[in-house]
Amino acid sequence: MHPPSNDQTPHHRRKRYKGTHPRRFDERYKELQGDKYPEMQQHIRSRGRTPAGSHVPVLVREVMECLRPAQGEVVVDCTLGFGGHAAEFMKRIGPTGLLIGLDMDLDELQRTRDRLARVGPNIHTHHTNYAGISQALAAENKTNCDIIFADIGVSSMQVDDPSRGISYKNPGPLDMRMDRRLKRTGAQLLATMDKRELSQALWELSDEPDHEKIAEFIVNQRQVLPIERTEDLVRLIFAAKNTTETAWRKQARFADLHPAARTFQALRIMVNDELGSLRALLRQAPSLLSPGGRLGIISFHSGEDRLVKLAFREGYAGGIWSATSVNVIRPTPSEVHSNPRSSSAKFRWAVKA
Ligand SMILES: C[S@@+](CC[C@H](N)C(=O)[O-])C[C@H]1O[C@@H](n2cnc3c(N)ncnc32)[C@H](O)[C@@H]1O
Repeated sequence: MHPPSNDQTPHHRRKRYKGTHPRRFDERYKELQGDKYPEMQQHIRSRGRTPAGSHVPVLVREVMECLRPAQGEVVVDCTLGFGGHAAEFMKRIGPTGLLIGLDMDLDELQRTRDRLARVGPNIHTHHTNYAGISQALAAENKTNCDIIFADIGVSSMQVDDPSRGISYKNPGPLDMRMDRRLKRTGAQLLATMDKRELSQALWELSDEPDHEKIAEFIVNQRQVLPIERTEDLVRLIFAAKNTTETAWRKQARFADLHPAARTFQALRIMVNDELGSLRALLRQAPSLLSPGGRLGIISFHSGEDRLVKLAFREGYAGGIWSATSVNVIRPTPSEVHSNPRSSSAKFRWAVKA
């Protein structure tokens, strides 16, 4: 029996787990309820880890310094996520400004909106792909804005949740969709793409050196059994690379990329059409920014950064942008130390002429 409580919220028994500490994602009830157990979140962050169910924003100081949000401005955060960057924007634009937050993942959107409503009153959220940014602004009765910001890719909440099937680290269904309305999951893509397409995608989207071999193993395997779970794909990649997880772990150094990391990245990019969305954003942004408006984009892999760099270079030459970042901005060693997930972040900005 639980003692009677004055608190009106119903009491939920915590998940049972083996041993003294919860190990599985859904067992980490203190980490998953950051608002209720802030000291647990702080403890985990101080050890350079990201608490389950949260996300540590990257390059926040650099983004704010370069995009200079000011009182009363309208900011579109195209990738609201956990709301780390959005909260900083909101503090700077104040109660007279407006933050319009977009995210294609509905699972977190409402929680983030509620959390940000405590930072300030002026936040409007839209469940949409940022490729639909023009429609989102039109729905707000706005023709332009002062800042457009995107921190593209996946959030830690998505990576850590085994039911999303995004990470090679967690056994789970090979789903990978950031927006559950998308039609094709990772498993469905692997079941339908032909060998040449698969091989080309693995090379172009993640520089996988064994792209041909992995594509061949996928096509052969699916004739016997469908590849439906993350662990099936991981096993197959080890086989294609002619090794095993145990053998690899014995000789791997700390910084070595997991053999499945590149394939998982390429598949996720395809499932969510991440490059198509980025191209659409880069096409629309100039006409949506007021003169002097700023566009900032953080990307996490070379294919995306290349698209941003080219669009900024061409736009500058064509007089669309009056200034752009000269070099890519990377996290400092101390940021990487305290948040290892920031290590591949690349930030670029441009100012509308
Ligand atoms: C790296 S996280 C953003 C983290 C955020 N800046 C913060 O401080 O918490 C990326 C987020 O963008 C969303 N996302 C990725 N691609 C998107 C797209 N094309 N349209 C809308 N949202 C997208 C993901 O669902 C995820 O929540």
